Amino acid sequence: MVMSLTTYSILVLVLVLAVCVELGDAATAVDAYRLIQYDLDGAPYGSRLAALNHFAGVAPFASGVDLSRTAVILPLRDLNFTLLHEFITGKQQLGGLLFLLPQDTDNARKDTGPIRTILSKLEHLLIHANLPYPVYFAHEDDKINEVLPDVQRGDGTGQPASATTGGLELMTHSFKLVVSTSEPKKLSSPTITNIQGWLPGLKGDGTSQLPTIAVVASYDTFGAAPELSVGSDSNGSGVVVLLEIARLFSRLYSNPNTRGRYNLLFGLTSGGPYNYDGTMKWLRNFDQRIRESIEFAICLNSVGSWDNELWLHVSKPPENVYIRQVYESLADVAKELDVTIGIKHKKINISNSRVAWEHEQFSRVRVTALTLSELSVAPELLHNTGGLSDSRDSVDDTAIQKSIKLVAESLGRHIYGYHGRNVQIFADNSSLALNPFYVKSWLDLLSQTPRVAPFLSKNDAIVSALKKELADHTDEVNVYHETIDGMFTFYDSTRSTLSIYQVTSVGFDFVMLAIIGLYLIVLFTVLVIATRGFDELLLMIRRPPTRKSKAA
Ligand SMILES: *[C@@H]1O[C@H](CO)[C@@H](O)[C@H](O)[C@H]1NC(C)=O
Ligand SMILES: *[C@@H]1O[C@H](CO)[C@@H](O)[C@H](O)[C@H]1NC(C)=O
Ligand SMILES: *[C@@H]1O[C@H](CO)[C@@H](O)[C@H](O)[C@H]1NC(C)=O
Ligand SMILES: *[C@@H]1O[C@H](CO)[C@@H](O)[C@H](O)[C@H]1NC(C)=O
Repeated sequence: MVMSLTTYSILVLVLVLAVCVELGDAATAVDAYRLIQYDLDGAPYGSRLAALNHFAGVAPFASGVDLSRTAVILPLRDLNFTLLHEFITGKQQLGGLLFLLPQDTDNARKDTGPIRTILSKLEHLLIHANLPYPVYFAHEDDKINEVLPDVQRGDGTGQPASATTGGLELMTHSFKLVVSTSEPKKLSSPTITNIQGWLPGLKGDGTSQLPTIAVVASYDTFGAAPELSVGSDSNGSGVVVLLEIARLFSRLYSNPNTRGRYNLLFGLTSGGPYNYDGTMKWLRNFDQRIRESIEFAICLNSVGSWDNELWLHVSKPPENVYIRQVYESLADVAKELDVTIGIKHKKINISNSRVAWEHEQFSRVRVTALTLSELSVAPELLHNTGGLSDSRDSVDDTAIQKSIKLVAESLGRHIYGYHGRNVQIFADNSSLALNPFYVKSWLDLLSQTPRVAPFLSKNDAIVSALKKELADHTDEVNVYHETIDGMFTFYDSTRSTLSIYQVTSVGFDFVMLAIIGLYLIVLFTVLVIATRGFDELLLMIRRPPTRKSKAA
């Protein structure tokens, strides 16, 4: 009996001590998307670390608590911006930060307005912050939601029960968030890729050079989490409008009888978020004759979520003959569609390399250009660039279809000389009608494809897909690779697996109890040996079954 008791006690103690140290069992593992890490002019921004191994904690935190070894989980559903501000400004040192994005289900999509506002506010804060700890985004799931209430107990730091906090609880569960990954490394010479396609017009006798109209859209994105920056509106919408316009005009241009006397140049540019760096490099590589042949370029940016008002941004005065023509023909079609187009004139500043709109890169090389956008004022650098909040549900198929009609119809009337006449070239139900299925499928694809340029390879699937699509509708498709403006440096490690381990700790009281128990057993053994000798002890241990069983 003593033997069994002794063995049992020792076993318990060993177990208790083992458990006390750590009892690891991965509760769940999820995809985690790291906050972007980049340098701008040498200044560090974003999350500066990738590896994470800390106990999980959840607000509210006891005041003055030390979180420097805690991975704080912030569910977006009830994000406390005051608290977040303390984390971002460095008032509170953290071990790490994990943002929980709402579940990615159709159900959760119903009312996305409020969460989109939170996301864009959050993104804005994060991309301009310098955070000396790992920051991740993950989607909520049932497993994580099960764990959260457990994490929420205690003082919020998530540290396992200790002599001071263990209290009376026998066992407490804590959770460790672990991302095992190496130090983030600088990306060496990240590239941006521009894609262009031509639809050559019909040359008459003696015409040496036809005028060109360029249709341009920037296709890459930038955001707090590069792997989640799908930019449906900015500027997936512009890309979709461009592709459908190319498809429509390719039908007209495939027949010499309906081929226009204009060349059409389609440009899908990259580097949009970096001051339209790709556009600048694309234009710089143009042959002078081609550049001079461009009558005007129309840039399509963020045209997927408007109701009844679009803006035409120009850097030449609206009285300029080409600007006036383009504006008037857009305004005519707009009237037929029962929407309005406003015009905004903003001079470029040649001595400042920062541009507000894509068309300004054209203006800088003296090509007439304009930007069509639902935005009435230009966003700041790195804002509105297709990040967290810009998902599929931020765009509206009807808005995109209206944008296509507007641009295609007014270009058509310009090319075929139907100014001011109500001729429907791309009439509904005609063979030249726009194809909503085509529009939807491209929008869906772009809305599932992160496109942050430094993280796209030269022949990334999306680059190849865009190239192939342009090649289907135009002749002479070319792809140009350029290096991103040296002002920007990016770091890898954008996506990892985050494991959540459950750590069960035994309360302080329980450990004390076990130690006292063991002490008593040892004391008893020693006393028996001292007073009766070792043999007696052995005898006691080897004693045949207890009286109780004898009596039975
Ligand atoms: C938000 O955080 C601040 C700072 O920690 C705290 O004082 C405040 O009570 C929190 N607000 C809510 C609604 O939890
Ligand atoms: C999309 O278009 C908007 C409006 O022109 C622009 O501010 C933004 O930078 C563009 N986004 C990207 C990723 O180029
Ligand atoms: C043009 O840009 C330069 C350089 O940033 C600046 O000093 C100047 O004030 C700007 N001029 C105007 C008219 O905004
Ligand atoms: C196009 O056809 C559909 C039915 O096929 C019809 O409902 C719609 O009114 C037509 N639109 C026009 C502009 O004729």
